Amino acid sequence: SARLVHRNNIDLIEIDNRWSTATISLFGGHILSYVPKSDGRDRLWVSDAAIMDGSKAIRGGIPICWPWFGDLHGQADTSLPSHGYVRNQTWRIIHIQESDTGTQLQLAPSCVQGKGFLGEASLLLDVHVGDELCISLITKNLGDASLSYTAALHTYFAVDDIKHTELTGLSGEYKDKTQQFAIFQTPEPYRFSAETDRVHLCQPSSLSINNNDKHTLVHSEGHDSIVVWNPWADKSTSMADMTNEGFRNMLCVETAVTTTKVVAPNEKHVIVQRIR
Ligand code: BG6
Repeated sequence: SARLVHRNNIDLIEIDNRWSTATISLFGGHILSYVPKSDGRDRLWVSDAAIMDGSKAIRGGIPICWPWFGDLHGQADTSLPSHGYVRNQTWRIIHIQESDTGTQLQLAPSCVQGKGFLGEASLLLDVHVGDELCISLITKNLGDASLSYTAALHTYFAVDDIKHTELTGLSGEYKDKTQQFAIFQTPEPYRFSAETDRVHLCQPSSLSINNNDKHTLVHSEGHDSIVVWNPWADKSTSMADMTNEGFRNMLCVETAVTTTKVVAPNEKHVIVQRIR
């Protein structure tokens, strides 16, 4: 079943089917939880201090960063928001349907035009909630000129303890955002003991987040990078929507396009993340 509930200032879709439950906020087109019934473990993390009234992007779940990832470098206008503007908008339901493999849903933001983005586009988030969570972000160029964008499915995964978490599947070089984008080699094993903000330039399709005996599988398509982020203690303390200890239970592994993607007129580009 799928039902719409109104909490604080935002509308939530609550999905409950044979395979799993999920909660999706129409503010941001933002998935907040995904719990497979096979083990009852929420794959996603939402901050205990998240602002849930529609006044700020929700800290946790799966924010949609579009039509740019991070800061829009080289723009004179510094008022442009980090990670684009659709995570701060109210989205609408285009389509919702139960099938014999789960619940299928399509959402679109109310407005895809904005300062700093000159293209004519449509954006659609396609979500399948079943024995896995599959999300596709579909950007279509509706204009006569080519369209350029960057984006990310900025997923906050839940972990029991970041200090006992290992990420497998990444290799090669990454750009370190905590060190002016200096390039380093991916550590092996990949573990966490400090602030981490990395753009991995390789494009593996399958990753695994392992903590103790729990594994979360992340499959990506249509991306050019994987971004790995954990703010650690000091930054968590400085962020109003993170508790001081919040960093211990999350790890962002983002399926991202960080190098400008050019989409020709009438063409579309799709970024996919599948979670199990
Ligand atoms: C990550 C970025 O993707 O998102 C980080 O690489 C950033 O640099 C983080 O701090 C959170 O961004 P925001 O805008 O949600 O606070």
